[in-house]
Amino acid sequence: MLRLPKVIGHRGAAASAPENTLASIERAALLGARWVEFDAKLTKDGVVILMHDDDLDRTTTGHGPVAEASWPQIAKLDAGAWFGPGWHGVRVPRLDETIARLASLGLNANIEIKPCPGREVETAAAVIELVRKRWPKGREAPLLSSFALESMVTARDLAPELPRGLLIWDTPEIWRAEAGRLGCRSVHFSSDHLPADLKAVKRAGLGLAVYTVNDRGQARRLLDAGVDCIITDRPDTILAA
Ligand code: G3P
Ligand code: MG
Repeated sequence: MLRLPKVIGHRGAAASAPENTLASIERAALLGARWVEFDAKLTKDGVVILMHDDDLDRTTTGHGPVAEASWPQIAKLDAGAWFGPGWHGVRVPRLDETIARLASLGLNANIEIKPCPGREVETAAAVIELVRKRWPKGREAPLLSSFALESMVTARDLAPELPRGLLIWDTPEIWRAEAGRLGCRSVHFSSDHLPADLKAVKRAGLGLAVYTVNDRGQARRLLDAGVDCIITDRPDTILAA
């Protein structure tokens, strides 16, 4: 069975640093996380970067769709200023440099493939290519997940050796059929939409993660109910639970 950590830092440590940046990943490590989750998507010119939204506007000084911006354009943007005055100058990271930083920090990752609409297959393929080329040999492989079922099918077919986690939002009961079809080793549920029988996930031999939980009491209850892993913006708070 896949051994999930108790805590995964969400978008790095999104409560205390600008999400999906190297600064956020470093902060997660500082706060005690051994794993981080982040969102991977493609620029117009096919570079894999860390970014949650389809548009640049919320988390950078840029505007418009990520899919219409090239890497040289995105590289110039500030991805920290929106978060607070101390974060000016933080940049959008590429996945290749992120992998190098994870290795130097000794972190593992849940790489969420977050394609812009219509780029499900190529985004998954690009993430896999980089993981194959850059992930240090001998280190535990990263866990790939995605809400985009086409990306998951691509991951399954192109890289069956890489572990996959099924990411589900508001239809939790599909877990059994989809995890089977996609050959997943874990299922990641929203804390707002849990399946009626959480323990059934464990009985099926799957790792069980819940996102995004920032409250210590809620985390404690979920762990007591058999959840393996809490994906959180506040790894320090949840580790204390
Ligand atoms: O992977 C768990 C979580 O990150 C999924 O939701 O929207 O924060 O990427 P989102
Ligand atoms: Mg995510």
